[in-house]
Amino acid sequence: MQTTVLEKIEPVADGVVSLHLRGTGGPLAPWDPGAHVDLALPNWLTRQYSLCGDPADRAKYRVAVRHDRLSRGGSEYIHLFLTEGHAVDVSVPRNNFPLRPAPEYLFVAGGIGITPILPMLAAAVEAGASATLMYVGRSVATMPFTEELRATHGDRVHVHATEEHGRPDFTALAATLSSRALVYACGPESMLDAVEAAFPAQRLQVERFRPVAKEWAPSKPFAVHCARSNRTVQVGADESVLDALNHAGYRVPSGCREGVCGSCEIGVLGGEPEHRDDIGAAPGRMYCCVSRALSPDLTLDL
Ligand code: FES
Repeated sequence: MQTTVLEKIEPVADGVVSLHLRGTGGPLAPWDPGAHVDLALPNWLTRQYSLCGDPADRAKYRVAVRHDRLSRGGSEYIHLFLTEGHAVDVSVPRNNFPLRPAPEYLFVAGGIGITPILPMLAAAVEAGASATLMYVGRSVATMPFTEELRATHGDRVHVHATEEHGRPDFTALAATLSSRALVYACGPESMLDAVEAAFPAQRLQVERFRPVAKEWAPSKPFAVHCARSNRTVQVGADESVLDALNHAGYRVPSGCREGVCGSCEIGVLGGEPEHRDDIGAAPGRMYCCVSRALSPDLTLDL
């Protein structure tokens, strides 16, 4: 964790504030567009937010937070109680949504989903790529950073307010897509479902706030061998590997506990994991808050 202080909190749209978090112990850890951090809030909750500032500015991070009416305590605490001067511990950035090189990009953002897209668009433009942003929201007043985007990127940015214009026609948009373009999308589930239905999967990268609903066979108990400590931990049918490890005394970090943030990633040295996350684990890795075992046991790098 890195120690920061909340230097500024300001409204950037109806129901959305941005937080400027200044490092207090020298330069903050570097990050690339698409990255997110865990914020350890003073009310003991940990929440993930995409970085939406300037990656070249190692003195501070910027994130933006929508006040979720169904808040489980994270956004509500930030909106109602977090004030300038508060100390906030921030994790090292992780990136599950990296920008691949391409000559052309189409970015699609829905509401607060603009946060990872904002630095991605800037990086694409800086790299000399042709880049367009379709920014969708209920109304302009609810959409953060519209002024900043227009001032910086002008005609590249198309703001689409659904209250005025209805839902965007992603199929028509896909029909105009250059064969050289990659598509990056972040926003609410309904928008991402429509985007996935319209654009070719091999050229599309999406980032979700929530896991996709999936059906799994009933979970079974299994064992995990922790290779470095030479211990075996039993994982019950009703518990996660993460919980079993933490109960056994291992300090495995976690954030979302839903397989979308990446903070519980661990190395797998043997056995076959059943990947239940929405990130896409690299070979030899697993997200232990949701993933389990297809083999009778797993050997972990712990
Ligand atoms: S805690 Fe977020 S992916 Fe496991």
